[in-house]
Amino acid sequence: MAKITASVYTSHIPAIGAALDLGKTQEDYWKPVFAGYDFSKQWMKDNTPDVIFLVFNDHATAFSLEMIPTFAIGTAAEYQIADEGWGPRPVPKVIGHPELASHIAQSVIQDDFDLTIVNKMDVDHGLTVPLSLMCGQPPVSNFAWPCPVIPFAVNVVQYPVPSGMRCYKLGQAIRKAVESYDQDLNVQIWGTGGMSHQLQGPRAGLINKKFDSDFLDKLIADPLAQASVPHIDYVREAGSEGIELVMWLIARGAMSTKPPKLAHRFYHVPASNTAVGHAILENQF
Ligand code: DHB
Ligand code: FE
Repeated sequence: MAKITASVYTSHIPAIGAALDLGKTQEDYWKPVFAGYDFSKQWMKDNTPDVIFLVFNDHATAFSLEMIPTFAIGTAAEYQIADEGWGPRPVPKVIGHPELASHIAQSVIQDDFDLTIVNKMDVDHGLTVPLSLMCGQPPVSNFAWPCPVIPFAVNVVQYPVPSGMRCYKLGQAIRKAVESYDQDLNVQIWGTGGMSHQLQGPRAGLINKKFDSDFLDKLIADPLAQASVPHIDYVREAGSEGIELVMWLIARGAMSTKPPKLAHRFYHVPASNTAVGHAILENQF
């Protein structure tokens, strides 16, 4: 049977993608950000899964305000890299896993979660920046991500957004779905976005280190308590875009109820307008 081996949590700041693509990673400003992922890149090489289930948010790139699915699962064979205004990032296209994605859709929808099925979607920085941070830039000789990816888009851009508790419970349904797939696949689930940040209005530039640190503590050790935090607290404490953090609860909900092993934890301010947060949790079998 398939199993979820680990979960990865990381910010998806678009300027990180630009710094990578423009060869700026060794500049003083960016060095400490990328240093936080040195461990992670090696860990990814040592623990390459068969599939990544990647929870992210689309930033009005593939979905416009004309159509806003709360939860959308990618069941396509492949996904092109979106052009967000400066041309597509020079990274490999994303290869999907239609069989596992369709199985998860079947199981999770029958478990009472409404998912939108997406058979065509260009993926933006919300998905490509986490892949770049964790996998590095694939070599020209083998220009591909290390494994297939199932993109799972969550609406955290246009209100109303899903609650942390719904995200956590959805994660539990995703674990059940993965564990009922009849092939021996190692699956990682990634929760991306955050941490505290606000890109607009009078509070633009808001960062809340205390909130972020408490969020990471609870995410790791008491995720149900974090899942009980209402969305308005994120907006108030972590800024309007801090709400992206509810996506981390989907990944956490998909982990075993047995306490996971904390393989890595990293936090750094600033990167662009946000705090960079990152953690890796391994399931203990
Ligand atoms: C920034 C962060 C985001 O999460 C995003 O989607 C866009 C911009 C920023 O820090 O600039
Ligand atoms: Fe974002």
